[in-house]
Amino acid sequence: MSASTNHAPLYNVSATSIPSLLHDKYSSWLYTFFLVLLSLLALEQAVYRYKKRHLPGDTWTIPVIGRFADSMHPTLEGYKKQWDSGALSAISVFNIFIVMASTNEYARKILNSPSYAEPCLVHSAKQVLRPDNWVFLTGKSHIDYRKGLNLLFTRKALGIYIAIQDTIARKHFRMWLDEAAKDPVTPKPIMMTARAMNMDTSLRVFCGPHISETAARDINEKYWFITQSLELVNFPLALPGTKIYKAIQARKVAMHWLELAAHKSKIAMANGSEPECMLDEWVQLLSDPSYKGKREFSDLEMAMVLFSFLFASQDAMSSGLIYGFQHLADHPDVLAKVREEQERVRQGDYEKPMTLEMLEQMPYLQAVVKESMRVKPPVTMVPYRATKAFPITNSYTVPANSMVIPSFYNSLHDPAVYPEPDAFKPERWLDPEGLATQNPKNYLVFGSGPHRCIGLEYASMNIAMVLATASVMFDWEHDITSQSNQVEIIATLFPKDGCRLKLTPRVRN
Ligand code: HEM
Repeated sequence: MSASTNHAPLYNVSATSIPSLLHDKYSSWLYTFFLVLLSLLALEQAVYRYKKRHLPGDTWTIPVIGRFADSMHPTLEGYKKQWDSGALSAISVFNIFIVMASTNEYARKILNSPSYAEPCLVHSAKQVLRPDNWVFLTGKSHIDYRKGLNLLFTRKALGIYIAIQDTIARKHFRMWLDEAAKDPVTPKPIMMTARAMNMDTSLRVFCGPHISETAARDINEKYWFITQSLELVNFPLALPGTKIYKAIQARKVAMHWLELAAHKSKIAMANGSEPECMLDEWVQLLSDPSYKGKREFSDLEMAMVLFSFLFASQDAMSSGLIYGFQHLADHPDVLAKVREEQERVRQGDYEKPMTLEMLEQMPYLQAVVKESMRVKPPVTMVPYRATKAFPITNSYTVPANSMVIPSFYNSLHDPAVYPEPDAFKPERWLDPEGLATQNPKNYLVFGSGPHRCIGLEYASMNIAMVLATASVMFDWEHDITSQSNQVEIIATLFPKDGCRLKLTPRVRN
């Protein structure tokens, strides 16, 4: 057969054969499309299984979305199931390969291996905080920047902050009591009132008189959008109406007021005013000729640092405070001991503002705070990202660019270190030879390594002061519902019913 004869039918297309040809073409496109799709899906499964290797986890990942549905509505029970499946286990969400680490050893290894892994926060964090925020620095530049910020948490600085915290707590407790007096029989959830108090405290400590009541209210009202955007994996585009879009708008409002506060603080310090807040302390420090880390900080840069503190603390602190109230209400014997200690240290003067020296004389209160955050750690885990292949064990290497998430919950509930791990027992911290005090490496409430919480002393001091002041100002009764002991994860842990309390002023004989 000649070549021309061979090709003839190709050009010999009659009118009647056109639909059938189009049909054939369509079928072949469809065929190709499905073939490519199937190959991609097969590739997705192959890559997942290659990365997972022998780790426990789903044998097959749900195509494209993986475990997205679970990450939208995370539950502690769901996480516990995952952690219980192995010291290291694998999942995939939107093709992000995730290794979950459930033992103290692996959690600490991830936190303390900065050359292999760095915090990646939640997916939305870069959009909400701005990519140029210092918290995204890594390596030496992170260490250097953080060194400068450590000076905002010195003992002298904490001494100024605790006086502000005390004033704000008393102001809010008076409002709580006034509100309770209007309807003394109905318990009210403290979820939002405690968050509002906490926001007010943070803004006053950070910005003192340089932020107006209107600004503080404005930031507080909008901040809930930021909390709601802190899901492990979010809808990727910040389109109007999405959680991330609303969170970005809320950040813009907060940043506007924080920048203005930085500007006002600089003017006040230049005019020789006494420092009254974190900003003032910072501005004064920077203008001190003997200060070695001298460099200019623009109003915007200062506002970004303060916003990072707000971002890192608002949810965690609120969670810590709310569970503090709940644990004390559910353990009246413990609350009685807290009050005994208050009476011993305060010697009848209940209006006296708390100082660092007074707090140091309250070891029982400190044990209560430590134990409350151990039982219900505000932050149960922090997502890190493997910056390169990370040989976490002899038999498993976390692939580069995977998420690797250390669990703090398991370290804090390890029965070998904390017998009866779910029980609230502040006494376990009072014995210097006891298991809890002898194993400080298990206490991961504030993380570990180069990114360990910079505000840990500030946070513990504030929670202790709030609970102590509450214990001398009022009685609180917990309305225990079926949801009180269920956990809701909204970035951090909260009791599902918002901790319903009935408050009455404390009557002393
Ligand atoms: C009960 C309250 C708090 C808890 C439970 C908490 C917990 C944590 C945890 C677990 C981390 C990550 C640590 C790691 O990756 O190893 C962290 C980081 C951080 N926290 Fe806190 N935190 C609290 C309050 C605060 C407060 C009050 C501030 C600031 C005033 C703050 C500022 C920060 C910052 C800036 C980071 C990032 C540090 C870095 O990357 O170098 N936190 N916190």
